[in-house]
Amino acid sequence: MKKNFFIAFEGIDGSGKSTQVKLLADKLTVAGHQVYITCEPSERPIGKMIREVFSGRMEADHRTIAALFVADRLDHLLNKTDGILKKLEKGYTVITDRYYLSSYAYQSPYMDLKWIIDANSLSANLLRPDLNIYIDISAEVSIERIKKGRSTTELYETLENLQQVRGKYFEVMDLLKDEEKVLVTDGNRSPEAIADDIWKNISAAFITETAL
Ligand code: ADP
Ligand code: TYD
Repeated sequence: MKKNFFIAFEGIDGSGKSTQVKLLADKLTVAGHQVYITCEPSERPIGKMIREVFSGRMEADHRTIAALFVADRLDHLLNKTDGILKKLEKGYTVITDRYYLSSYAYQSPYMDLKWIIDANSLSANLLRPDLNIYIDISAEVSIERIKKGRSTTELYETLENLQQVRGKYFEVMDLLKDEEKVLVTDGNRSPEAIADDIWKNISAAFITETAL
């Protein structure tokens, strides 16, 4: 049995996370892994409530949003139906589109970063990703891709905010460099070139632990 991994994709909106999640899942499947793909905000009740806020259908204060993400993440990990911990226990390699680094980057313009990290330590202590993959694009490219892909924009999807969030990502990746394994990959290349880069790094990171 191959060792299963937990991998989190990170990046600002439109950075290509969903695209790369699928490409990596395909490669891992060919390599013999059973792969489970998931995302945050989750598809469960707390995640759905967060999506209501992001779309503007429901109003909530930024502090409430930060707390909802803490709760959604714990439910995402711990729920008995399809919780991440259960999936890992069953032998799946789990890939999530966003995890706690998203909260550190997106909520820290509004909240004390230390509070966010402490509140998420419940999740971090339960499960730290074997690898975080940060896909880097500029806020300008993000806005272009969002505009091309849809007619509406969500909370946080302004140029100024995305510039700030990108800066926060780099700040927290530096702050947590001893705790968090992060691969930063240039998102301005073709999806295939990015996927190859990620695959090369995953092989390099895990080849000593297990044959991929
Ligand atoms: P995210 O999940 O981070 O929001 P997506 O994978 O949904 O990102 O990609 C956002 C948009 O950008 C989509 O329209 C997608 O087709 C496009 N896209 C994804 N990867 C790339 C890339 N490497 N170069 C150019 N466009 C891309
Ligand atoms: P997502 O659906 O991944 O958006 P996208 O595909 O455009 O990247 O995430 C929705 C929004 O939720 C996104 O703007 C980032 C935000 N978010 C937070 O603010 N904090 C968090 O902890 C998470 C997981 C997401």
